[in-house]
Amino acid sequence: MAENIIKAEQLSEKQSEYIKLIAEIIEIRKRGEKPIAFVRTYGCQQNVADSEKIKGMLSEAGFDFSDSPDDADFILFNTCAVREHAEDRVFGNVGALKNLKRKHPQVLIALCGCMMEQEHVANRIYNSFPFVGLVFGTHSLHHFPELLYTSLVDGKRVFERGNDDKKIYEGFPVHRDGIFKGWLPIMYGCNNFCTYCIVPYVRGRERSREKDVILKEAREMIASGYKDITLLGQNVNSYGKTLENPVTFAELIREIDSFEGDYWLRFMTSHPKDCSKELIDAIASGKHISKHLHLPFQSGSDRILKAMNRHYDRKKYLETIAYAKERIDGVSLTSDIIVGFPGETYEDFKETLSLIREVEFTSLFTFIFSPRKGTPAEKYDDPVSAEEKGKWFRELLDVQEEIAAKRCSSMVGQTEKVLIEGVKEKTGELNARTSGNIIVELDGGKDLIGTFQNVKITKARNWILKGELI
Ligand code: SAH
Ligand code: SF4
Ligand code: F3S
Repeated sequence: MAENIIKAEQLSEKQSEYIKLIAEIIEIRKRGEKPIAFVRTYGCQQNVADSEKIKGMLSEAGFDFSDSPDDADFILFNTCAVREHAEDRVFGNVGALKNLKRKHPQVLIALCGCMMEQEHVANRIYNSFPFVGLVFGTHSLHHFPELLYTSLVDGKRVFERGNDDKKIYEGFPVHRDGIFKGWLPIMYGCNNFCTYCIVPYVRGRERSREKDVILKEAREMIASGYKDITLLGQNVNSYGKTLENPVTFAELIREIDSFEGDYWLRFMTSHPKDCSKELIDAIASGKHISKHLHLPFQSGSDRILKAMNRHYDRKKYLETIAYAKERIDGVSLTSDIIVGFPGETYEDFKETLSLIREVEFTSLFTFIFSPRKGTPAEKYDDPVSAEEKGKWFRELLDVQEEIAAKRCSSMVGQTEKVLIEGVKEKTGELNARTSGNIIVELDGGKDLIGTFQNVKITKARNWILKGELI
């Protein structure tokens, strides 16, 4: 066991020095005006949380943030590699910056995140996008100030793909995007190596943050008014295994839940192979833990689950769901599904359809299989055409729409506690969310944004609810 223990290191003093040096250079260049950074984040909440650290460091170096790249001195795209479509979007949007760089030659264009940990991507950027000045991967976050300083001073292109994929760093300044909804990473990386997935290759080995560091951050977030806190990890159920004093995820979440305050506690993502009864019991008895379980099953066919290396079967998944439904009153279940995994037949796909009919999920994130370079599934035989997979995909959406509509209709007439999150631009209605992560639209003043309210559900439209303030 001992060699599996991963201890955190503190962000080095040297990086704080670099932050000061960056501030000095910028001050001279901008003659006292604040430099502007534009940070765009692709992909999952892990990336959002990383961007918040990068923004924290930029903010300490004196940067302000803009919603548009046009007036920025520093442009950063934090990229996602999970599917081809995600990568194509990044390549397209980076290409579009070429003109901007021509107009403003001073601007520094940088790319970071999961895509940049792949050698072939970094090479393509190097060769085809000469106006990109700085590239770094997910393992280089802890010396971002040094990388930024070097590219500002040398004016040369800086490219770095990290090799610290087993390390964990603490002490980052964090510039949170939201003021009442916030992300709290509890672990990094993944050891599961599902055969389709690029994440373990670009995010490194699974490693957990110390419990006390997480508890301190959670306390601070609650004290500063966060109402909706999501604990993040690729597989939160295996939290604590790399710590010197191992802790289970259920223990961690129970401890946070015991903190006083008016807030909801969420987490993502859970892996079905180790979603324990202890965790489900913790959700059931929690005061703040939302009655929502996002439990991606990917496929309803045992043959395909095996080929995906998921380490559970349909029976075990359904047993977990049955226990969650029994213990957690009104539990809201959501999931991720991949359609068209190599070798999947229509018979296998029908097993996925029957599973979603049986469980009745509130909502689903559905994806068509996308081969990722370097993963085992990239090389599997994949005889089904894209057109056929598209047909299955639409069939899945139709079935789920029916289920979601039925589930949402059954909530009409009920009273729900919701968090008001914002205003819908088109209609001026307020947007809110239930503890089960269902969207509710209602009339009301903007001053309610960021508060909890009780609403009566008056109507259901597919997977969206309409409500009235009580
Ligand atoms: N760690 C999380 C998921 C991270 S990726 C978990 O294990 O549940 C988010 C989702 O993207 C996955 O659940 C999966 O459904 C989908 N996904 C990942 N790799 C994919 C690929 N190569 N093609 C299509 N979908 C993929
Ligand atoms: Fe990818 Fe599987 Fe890890 Fe999730 S558990 S990040 S799907 S390898
Ligand atoms: Fe994408 Fe990286 Fe998240 S590949 S889904 S941003 S971990």
